[in-house]
Amino acid sequence: MRRCRILTHPEHAAWALARGRLVAVPTETVYGLAADVRRPEAIARIFEVKQRPTFDPLIVHVLNHDWLMEVAQDVPPVMQRLIERFWPGPLTLVLPKRQQIADLVTAGLPTVAVRAPRHPTTRAVLRALRHPIAAPSANLFGRLSPTRVRHVLHQLHDRIDYLLLGKPCQVGVESTVIAMCEGQVVILRAGGVTAEALADELGYIPSISTSSAKPEAPGQLPYHYAPRTPLRVVDQLPAHPPPGKWGALVLSPLQHSGYQVVIHLSKTGDLREAAAQFFESLFRLDLMGLDGILAVRFPAEGLGVALNDRLQRAAQSHPA
Ligand code: TXA
Ligand code: MG
Repeated sequence: MRRCRILTHPEHAAWALARGRLVAVPTETVYGLAADVRRPEAIARIFEVKQRPTFDPLIVHVLNHDWLMEVAQDVPPVMQRLIERFWPGPLTLVLPKRQQIADLVTAGLPTVAVRAPRHPTTRAVLRALRHPIAAPSANLFGRLSPTRVRHVLHQLHDRIDYLLLGKPCQVGVESTVIAMCEGQVVILRAGGVTAEALADELGYIPSISTSSAKPEAPGQLPYHYAPRTPLRVVDQLPAHPPPGKWGALVLSPLQHSGYQVVIHLSKTGDLREAAAQFFESLFRLDLMGLDGILAVRFPAEGLGVALNDRLQRAAQSHPA
């Protein structure tokens, strides 16, 4: 069995990546499973390790705008403005790719998804490697995204070479993925940069492109981000749970009875705080041997949109 070795220095992670190894690295959103973008065999292993279909393209992580120009081309002025405002940070842009980016990275698409992460550890790895890394979230395909070291190890400990330690994933949900469609910016996946924040720069609220059978961003697949325990999304927590052992996930503290456990994500109902705890809380609930989890829908604003999106997809993995 492969043993995952724990690294503490970004330079060591860069060394391993340059040799074609896979390294789980913390980012400000979730842990990523990184490969050097120049190593096709390492990219291929990402798909193998995650059991991810090869039609699902990866995000390329760059240090800054200069690096972007090596990966993508024809960056429209509006995307330039968004980069200036939101990079480094949880905003991923889908742009026409440069030829040197391998087809496996982009699943054969003529476009590439790129972001500049904000997490100091990811940035230190990029600086030491001096090349972009391709990194999806460090989970098995369709399962809960990892925001803690133990989440990564729980799913991938016997499948990956290295894990790099770093500060916690502060944002807690994946990056927002955007693309141009008929001259307008559209959101392919709601995430860490809110639609309101984008609207403030764009002057209009970008539309969210809904999921389809053959998705543009397979983060749009109707099932995804799922715990093993059946999960239902509700508008309000029922006073009494269904028969059996039930847990609940709610935004802020509330009175309850009959539930095995109720996890609230923020004392004050703060959505940023909630996002940072979201996957960790689902992970804990998933380990409790419950018959089911009831999750109360978040307010449909700010990061609540991304959180509701993740809940909805998690619920679809377990049709009622
Ligand atoms: O926050 C994040 O984005 C994390 C960290 C590690 O950076 N990464 C992440 O990667 O969530 P992943 O692979 O789990 O999700 C990437 C999303 C998928 O929904 C994928 O379909 C979409 O980006 N994507 C990638 N390339 C695309 C492209 N060329 N066109 C449309 N969507 C694309
Ligand atoms: Mg993912």
